[in-house]
Amino acid sequence: MGVKSILTADQFSRKDLDLILEKTRQIEDLLKTRKQLHVLKEHILATMFFEPSTRTRLSFESAMHRLGGQVITAVGMQFSSLAKGETLFDTLKVLESYADICAIRHPVEGASLVAAKSISIPVINAGDGAGEHPTQAILDLYTISAYKNIQGKKIVVGFVGDIKYGRTIHSLIKLLSKYQASFVFISPPEIGLPEKYIEELNKAKITFTETSDIEALRECDVGYITRIQEERFLEHATYENFKNLYVINKKFLKTCRDDIIIMHPLPRLSEVSTDIDAMPQAVYFKQAEYGLYSRMSLLLYVTNRLDEIN
Ligand code: NCD
Repeated sequence: MGVKSILTADQFSRKDLDLILEKTRQIEDLLKTRKQLHVLKEHILATMFFEPSTRTRLSFESAMHRLGGQVITAVGMQFSSLAKGETLFDTLKVLESYADICAIRHPVEGASLVAAKSISIPVINAGDGAGEHPTQAILDLYTISAYKNIQGKKIVVGFVGDIKYGRTIHSLIKLLSKYQASFVFISPPEIGLPEKYIEELNKAKITFTETSDIEALRECDVGYITRIQEERFLEHATYENFKNLYVINKKFLKTCRDDIIIMHPLPRLSEVSTDIDAMPQAVYFKQAEYGLYSRMSLLLYVTNRLDEIN
């Protein structure tokens, strides 16, 4: 079998997704009684993170350790030879002999695709600028499936915040489009869903609405709240206009459906108030935990070892 990378959420079929969800569930169960599975004993994961990250990098590294593998890491351009003027190609080329899998986060959209074309080991896109974040989408899908029946009735997912630059949203709508879901996009029009994603949704005949009114979240089954992506704005003043626009707090949540779940890829700023943290609707910390099990699955997916979990 050839090298299997994870570059975009588009690449997963419904069958792939159902299998990954099932294996993730099994891994979650196995970890209740064991700290480590020894499936990737002889493997090394390189985490190459050229943008800030906490959960994505640490959950990938923890996932590799829990699978019995090893991790090497390069964090921040300023600490790697990229700061000396080396090209990304040269930086990555040596990884073929140092590691068996490369997880990369980079500020440029499409960087992971370039990486995958440059090296002969599986590349995992851990966020490419304002493009995609497919592994976050897998853990988000797993989280939704833990609370809602995604195999059955249609669910309504409300996306709130920075829909233009929010790469986790871009990937998640691609995955949810393979299930019975409709979308409500809640944002100021200036940071609404980019045209290319609108075209994809129309082509796939997915029902969606766009509004700037937060009241639209009230009828949703899932509220997926996001941070306004300050680092992507060309003009800081524009960011300032949007940064405190939406706040999900206890008072607002009480007006929503009782069974709504509130998700957030984290880090959160003021858009999700800490006064809802203890409410059963707030699932974002559980979501981050699910990142571990999901990424264990995905490391096994790229190494063709998923069938060793049973
Ligand atoms: C997100 C990201 O990096 O895109 N964080 C994450 O990976 N959990 C969301 C964000 O930074 O706002």
